[in-house]
Amino acid sequence: MTTSQTLPTAPALTQPAVWLRDNCPCVECRDPRNGQKLFNITDLPADLAVTEVRGTTVTFSDGHVSLFDPAFLSAREAPDDRSEDAKRLWATTEVPEHDWARFLADPEHRADCLDAVLTTGFTLLRGVPVTPGAVLDVAAGFGFVRETNYGKLFDVRVEATPTNLAFTGLAITPHTDNPYRDPVPTVQLLHCLSNAVDGGESGLVDGFHAAALLRTEDADAFAVLTRTPVTFRYADAGAELVTSRPMIGLDPTGRIREVRFNNRSMQALRLPPKETAAFYAAYRRFAEILTRPELMVTFRLGPGDCVVFDNTRLLHARTGFADTGDRHLQGCYADLDAIASGRRVLRGQLAATHLRELFAGPGTADYLGEDVTQAQHMLQAAALAESDDASPQLVVAALLHDVGHFTGPLTGADLMGGTDNRHSHVAADWLARWFGPAVTEPIRLHVAAKRYLCAVDPAYADLLSPASTYTLGVQGGPMSAEEVAAFEAEPYAADAVRLRRWDDGAKDASRSVPGFDHYESTLALLARSGGRARG
Ligand code: OGA
Ligand code: ZN
Ligand code: ZN
Repeated sequence: MTTSQTLPTAPALTQPAVWLRDNCPCVECRDPRNGQKLFNITDLPADLAVTEVRGTTVTFSDGHVSLFDPAFLSAREAPDDRSEDAKRLWATTEVPEHDWARFLADPEHRADCLDAVLTTGFTLLRGVPVTPGAVLDVAAGFGFVRETNYGKLFDVRVEATPTNLAFTGLAITPHTDNPYRDPVPTVQLLHCLSNAVDGGESGLVDGFHAAALLRTEDADAFAVLTRTPVTFRYADAGAELVTSRPMIGLDPTGRIREVRFNNRSMQALRLPPKETAAFYAAYRRFAEILTRPELMVTFRLGPGDCVVFDNTRLLHARTGFADTGDRHLQGCYADLDAIASGRRVLRGQLAATHLRELFAGPGTADYLGEDVTQAQHMLQAAALAESDDASPQLVVAALLHDVGHFTGPLTGADLMGGTDNRHSHVAADWLARWFGPAVTEPIRLHVAAKRYLCAVDPAYADLLSPASTYTLGVQGGPMSAEEVAAFEAEPYAADAVRLRRWDDGAKDASRSVPGFDHYESTLALLARSGGRARG
């Protein structure tokens, strides 16, 4: 293998040839319409080798050539968003509260509400209509209702012949629901229609936090509960549901991922006596932690309240009440994957909305005295990128390259007044909340690319507009030989030079190009997972 490059090698380029070949992004390997892979692992030669690496272009022994995005090669492993590492564990916590009307009307509020369920494990929604069935509308706002043998929803109120202790006035100790189901419903909703009783208060416990405490206080007990399958069962005339799982489920790296705890539906263990004794000691330790009063948040559900919680993590409980009283909840199940998906989609939409408003507001300002506005200039640059077959990331970089003139402390007017507003760095740093380096780094380098081109291409300087020639001086003038060498070593130098050419050609008042809408879906898609912030 020959490595003909001056750049430090991205660690991923030292992966086995099969890894690189399997992740080739070209149109022969992945359908450009959906990103899905078009071949199977068995289609690759077993003795595949890398024959050459040039920058991030890799040639293989079967003749295939792959062009990798540097950002892909430097990406880190995605964390499991269901494990304890992705959560904010709590002993006591303020009850996160959200408002149903705002949830429907305001995407920021909705994002915050989904975040609460994903990271704190629950939210208390206020202002849900006090109407039977409204819990299904709430579930639909979070994803999809998980229908079960109980139907789409179930009523929690006192019944004459209760099939479940929940349908009495008895206290219910902390538990997770439906542990006898595989897969278990990962989200539960309880909506209050009436609660005019003494008692009937609600409590929630963070089962991940309790399991983490058990791990610290009694590592052997923790280990027993992670490896002993426990059978849970539910039976009535029309159903018999049986599932065996450990009470504390770990992910493949050993992190806490799921808690199943329900004394009511747990079945007899069939273990050798010594193991039974060890299990019961561990089970008691865990139950003692789960019932520590300081680990429970308590609140009272009133009519119109709906608590939404992670049923793989939080245990829920209620205090007892007189079984003659008027208390009626409706519940249903849903799933966490849809909540996480909805959160990612919202993230992209929020970014798109924010940027659309930027184009419609500050973007309508004059662009450094040219004949076009800031927004027209960037839209023209994006149109040029698109007609030049640039990647979606580079089209979006062209579309946003000058936002640093109006998102930082200094403006384009300062630049024209002789003070460098460092707008390429301001833009890249500001956009990094939503986008990865394939978008931000060509933007960061687009001023450097002007200084570079002036140094290496004698004809280039003549193409610059008078304003651009003036700002070149403010920005440091043509590059020195050392600066040229350093620039060429940047992984995104070539993209930055392309962006620069579109930038210079995007100042034509007579040209009409597609508006912001044309790019909105691409931009939203890239903003879902690209940046550093969760916001
Ligand atoms: C349930 C349950 C709690 C309550 O129905 O799963 O635990 O407050 N109900 O009645
Ligand atoms: Zn329950
Ligand atoms: Zn520009």
